Amino acid sequence: MAIELPPPPLQRGIVNHSSFSELDIEKEAERLSTAIKQPFRWSLETCRSIAPLTLEINQLKKEKDVILIAHSYQTPDITYGVADAVADSYALSKEARDAPQNTILFSSVRFMAETAKIVSPHKTVLHPSPEAGCSLSDSITAQDVRDIRAKYPGLPVVCYINTSAEVKAECDACVTSSNYLRICERLPGNGLIFVPDRFMGKHLQNHLAGKKDVIIFDGECEVHAAFTGEKIRTWRKRASDAGMELQVLSHPECDTDVLDESDFVGSSEVLMEEALRLASAGKKDLMLITECGTTDRIIAESNEDLNLVGACVMCRHMKTTQLEDILQALRNPRPDQIIELETSVIEKASKCLDEMFRLAE
Ligand code: 13P
Ligand code: SF4
Repeated sequence: MAIELPPPPLQRGIVNHSSFSELDIEKEAERLSTAIKQPFRWSLETCRSIAPLTLEINQLKKEKDVILIAHSYQTPDITYGVADAVADSYALSKEARDAPQNTILFSSVRFMAETAKIVSPHKTVLHPSPEAGCSLSDSITAQDVRDIRAKYPGLPVVCYINTSAEVKAECDACVTSSNYLRICERLPGNGLIFVPDRFMGKHLQNHLAGKKDVIIFDGECEVHAAFTGEKIRTWRKRASDAGMELQVLSHPECDTDVLDESDFVGSSEVLMEEALRLASAGKKDLMLITECGTTDRIIAESNEDLNLVGACVMCRHMKTTQLEDILQALRNPRPDQIIELETSVIEKASKCLDEMFRLAE
């Protein structure tokens, strides 16, 4: 019997230009370049070279009734070229739950695509880059949760959304960077176990001090762990010597010494909204302590002349996905690009996510 082999990955940069007219490609290149607003890194010529990919992806989405959702940390050719929704992990899990389309293509890391499958088990969920993981999600297993629960019997286990479906299935409530303080405050009882992010856990411990005991795990995000309070102090001094009043905006996956030095803490989406608000109020000297995708979004969505200070850090997992992977998954998905989870895992993990939706609103 002949074995059907999965299609090979599309080669990077190999695009069939013949399907679209030169005029279509020119118009698409101009649309991309205007939306991305970074003429040095995404020149009109670069946009021209990717236009056949975005045109075909957008055409296939319509033909196959697919919603393409992308996390803020995806590259701008994805977020501004082909995504129907771009946001933080909380907003995207709601988007996946409520989407009327039968197929969801999630351009992001694996745990986010799994979350889409848990909240929409009857839909097909495509994840173009199966190898795109996350250091936080990879730091904990379902067995670790069972062990920690046995060590502290009676305490609810709260997991950050950056966890596998199997881990969520072992937890009582899920949280994201936009709602962890609120949800943990609202949970009954005077203690909880928080997994797996030790920095967010420490922040939570400080926030709930005197009200609830918080037991934490030792995972961390390799991207946000790179920032330090010391670096922020140095930049603030430098900026103030140059007559600037720096506004520092940080993601809660950073260490507490970073958060203590920050003017504002929030999820990827909330950081972008706050940066846009500050810039329109005339505060344009901004330092973003997070992954580079948030900065790309601020550049694209602001009409102000911004002064973005310091350097962002790139997530190698988030940046794994390229337009070629998305096109491949839409044309003819390989089995490993289709999210499959055991029914019992979906049932248990959906209770954990339902608790998040209930307590977050
Ligand atoms: P957000 O929910 O803030 O988008 O965070 C997800 C994530 O992985 C950040 O590193
Ligand atoms: Fe995971 Fe950090 Fe990358 Fe987010 S930025 S996906 S937490 S490794």
